[in-house]
Amino acid sequence: MKTDEIKIEIQNLTMAYDSYVVMRDINAEVKRGSVFVIMGNSGSGKSTLLRHLIGLQRPAQGDVLYDGRSFWGGDDDARRAQLRKCGVLFQSSALWSSMTLAENVALPLQEYTDWSATDVKDIVRLKLALVGLSGFEDYYPAELSGGMRKRAGLARAMALDPEILFFDEPSAGLDPITGRNLDQLILELRDSLGATVVVVTHELASIFMIAEDGIFLDADTKTIGARGNPKELLQNTTDAKLRTFLTRGENQSSL
Ligand SMILES: Nc1ncnc2c1ncn2[C@@H]1O[C@H](COP(=O)(O)OP(=O)(O)O)[C@@H](O)[C@H]1O
Ligand SMILES: [Mg+2]
Repeated sequence: MKTDEIKIEIQNLTMAYDSYVVMRDINAEVKRGSVFVIMGNSGSGKSTLLRHLIGLQRPAQGDVLYDGRSFWGGDDDARRAQLRKCGVLFQSSALWSSMTLAENVALPLQEYTDWSATDVKDIVRLKLALVGLSGFEDYYPAELSGGMRKRAGLARAMALDPEILFFDEPSAGLDPITGRNLDQLILELRDSLGATVVVVTHELASIFMIAEDGIFLDADTKTIGARGNPKELLQNTTDAKLRTFLTRGENQSSL
């Protein structure tokens, strides 16, 4: 891959909680404008890796590069400037229950910009419209369905027109149709924003629908077990663990 095509580079990353090493020797490149999926069974370290990418957890070793620049080698201000270009949708949507949707989506704008209240209001309305939530500005999260809450979280993640969108298990807890619609929305937003998308997931339907490239974290060996386009991996892999993951242990004889 040419250097200018690489948006994110993970270099020799070792992730640990105190002395407990979750994963080591993680190396990966995320192509600009692509949808990259971090796959793996529950507990393999997907969310932990995401935390290293968005500044919440410092590597035990190694680094993450954005546009060729060291993220962990820089100071707090440089990291904050980089994070300003990133939107994150956590597994739980993490909306504040005491705030309306408009107030939730306005939060990153208030934190990172000095825009006027009117401008913030306009942007919030636009972002909610983009995810199909026009007219729900004054609703509280508890008044919405799970799928709508996810979409509101997505609107918040996109508030600052991020270059990179990170998702942790976006379709977790949603019914299959709502999950598929959310995946479709993620692809549409990637296209309209021209963003690079990194998705942590173990949902097969989602993996095969959205991912162009990815890595599979193997909890047994504590490092990357496979990398590539998930559909191609499914066709070509001889690795039993990966095959079991990508087929949920079903239909193995017919593959
Ligand atoms: N705050 C924490 N302190 C200690 N260990 C943790 C913490 N969070 C996660 N772990 C451990 O790290 C491993 C990876 O967890 P996680 O990244 O949440 O996995 P995944 O997202 O793939 O399910 C698991 O063994 C988990 O128990
Ligand atoms: Mg997780």
